[in-house]
Amino acid sequence: MRGLKDKVALVTAAAGAGMGKVTAHRLAQEGALVVVTDSHARRTRETADELNKEFPGRIFGFPLDVSNRNNVDEVVGAVGARLGRIDILVNNAGINAFGGVSELNPEDWQRVLDVDLTGCFNMIRVILPGMKNRRQGAIINIASVAAWTTNSSAPYNAAKAGVLALTRTVAAEAGPFNVRCNAIAPGMIMTKWVETHWQEIGGDKMEKDCPLRRGGKPEEVAAVTCFLASDDASYITGEAVTVSGGWYMHA
Ligand SMILES: NC(=O)c1ccc[n+]([C@@H]2O[C@H](COP(=O)([O-])OP(=O)(O)OC[C@H]3O[C@@H](n4cnc5c(N)ncnc54)[C@H](O)[C@@H]3O)[C@@H](O)[C@H]2O)c1
Repeated sequence: MRGLKDKVALVTAAAGAGMGKVTAHRLAQEGALVVVTDSHARRTRETADELNKEFPGRIFGFPLDVSNRNNVDEVVGAVGARLGRIDILVNNAGINAFGGVSELNPEDWQRVLDVDLTGCFNMIRVILPGMKNRRQGAIINIASVAAWTTNSSAPYNAAKAGVLALTRTVAAEAGPFNVRCNAIAPGMIMTKWVETHWQEIGGDKMEKDCPLRRGGKPEEVAAVTCFLASDDASYITGEAVTVSGGWYMHA
């Protein structure tokens, strides 16, 4: 993909067993310098070390909780001091909660909103000014088909719908500065978490309803993230790209 070589890409929640890490790996394959961040400090270190073996000197690890604004400000400052800039931001961090609206603990509602929606805002708030100054940047927010459907929890659906609204607002504000902002709405992606919770989340039904008859692979979302970050997507902004094997049409 064009224009990713030597770009500085920061990925949030990149030390888990899902899309974040795979996205960090794919960005590095495309030639980017990659900042691996995650709220789990030990796994952040281990992931950065592991990727550094394959891409020596091109991976940087920073523990980062996207819901903690002071931590965000600190880490973005430290990345700026070390690498001079952030060209690509992938807001991947997202958590969920189980239960109907009246059963949900209000703290769980708040926590999902804090990580999934306010986390994106916290990151964009401090990274966007540098992108605007340099008149270059791409932001990719990982939303979900839950933004439009009802099969996840209320805070998750609401937060992901908010991520799409935030995406459009940032795209409108940043476009005149040559900074693009897009979202991806994955369907059911076969991460470790999805495999573990397959029954509770109705995996069998999803597979049956999905025109491609399977869950997606994290690599299939990472490819779209890289495309949206690249110069090949230079005229795309404010969009939500659904990556669901067509499942969204039936969800
Ligand atoms: N897996 C799916 O089927 C699916 C579908 C639609 C959307 N999504 C979205 O895709 C994104 C990635 O999900 P994934 O399931 O691939 O997992 P992932 O492996 O990419 O992310 C899990 C990681 O998130 C980290 N994390 C949790 N809270 C954090 C915080 N406050 N700050 C920073 N890091 C934090 C965890 O430590 C863990 O390492 C999420 O936004 C999720 O909502 C997932």
